[in-house]
Amino acid sequence: MMNIHHKLKLHNGTEIPILGLGTYSADGGRTTAETVKAALELGYRSIDTASFYNNEKEVGEGIKESAVYRSDVFVTTKLWNDDHGYDKALKAFEASLQRLDLNYVDLYLIHWPGKDKYVETWKALERLYDEGLVKAIGVSNFKEHHLKTLMSASNEKPVVNQIELHPRLTSESLREYCKRMDIKVEAWSPLANGRLLNEPTINYIAKKHTRTPAQIILRWHIQNDIIIIPKTSSKKRLVENASIFDFRLSMEEMNLIDSLNMNERIGQDPDKLLF
Ligand SMILES: NC(=O)c1ccc[n+]([C@@H]2O[C@H](COP(=O)([O-])OP(=O)(O)OC[C@H]3O[C@@H](n4cnc5c(N)ncnc54)[C@H](OP(=O)(O)O)[C@@H]3O)[C@@H](O)[C@H]2O)c1
Repeated sequence: MMNIHHKLKLHNGTEIPILGLGTYSADGGRTTAETVKAALELGYRSIDTASFYNNEKEVGEGIKESAVYRSDVFVTTKLWNDDHGYDKALKAFEASLQRLDLNYVDLYLIHWPGKDKYVETWKALERLYDEGLVKAIGVSNFKEHHLKTLMSASNEKPVVNQIELHPRLTSESLREYCKRMDIKVEAWSPLANGRLLNEPTINYIAKKHTRTPAQIILRWHIQNDIIIIPKTSSKKRLVENASIFDFRLSMEEMNLIDSLNMNERIGQDPDKLLF
């Protein structure tokens, strides 16, 4: 049985916890620091931030204020769209590291592919990786064609692709492609930003297991080997979202949740966010 410390091995040998805390719009300021600290003290070992979230400083504070060693925490941050290009990417990373007040990050991601600069940007990430300033490099919001272009022009393959993924957007073919390439898939908005919590099928399965709808959705992800980073600023929900390792969905229940797919996005289509 998995537990809160369960990790997935990335193709470069590093390991990422299957459960992390998302921090996008985590209510800013001290709330972020306090939520990060609370999550770590509850057993979370992975925090997802981004320069775009404007909270790297508070994420760093939360880690320092917790009783958990830095080396036991997996920190992900991301390069924002304005910072594409080799030199800009190096500068953006340095600024993120300073805001986090850390010596290294565990995973650095290109936040969005954009039009045509991501290969050049990736070269900067490869350099940061070679220099040991990041333990692993990956991407976010990349479709199969972006991954193919990137990999055909690069030495390093991304370890992770962080994509919008939930029962309304199951992206099976992209997941299948990532699996073949040994790129782990990480779900952003794993709870569809809270929009599926009243969905009847999810509620029917939740009742059967005496669990909450959120726990059913998160369990569906981890049974699919998907890394999850649900965001919450509530201590009660931090506990709830981590209490998913002591029950199992049947194949039939997994299939029922799969059937909720409508290819429906909350966020932008990466092919339409061109910069
Ligand atoms: N790479 C990208 O482009 C990208 C884009 C978006 C997000 N992300 C990352 O993914 C993380 C998660 O995505 P997200 O924040 O958009 O959405 P999410 O995690 O799917 O959902 C978060 C929402 O659900 C609520 N919630 C959390 N747990 C709950 C529970 N057990 N019961 C009821 N409601 C619950 C939260 O409210 P409360 O806080 O009030 O609990 C919040 O409103 C982000 O924080 C960010 O780190 C990445």
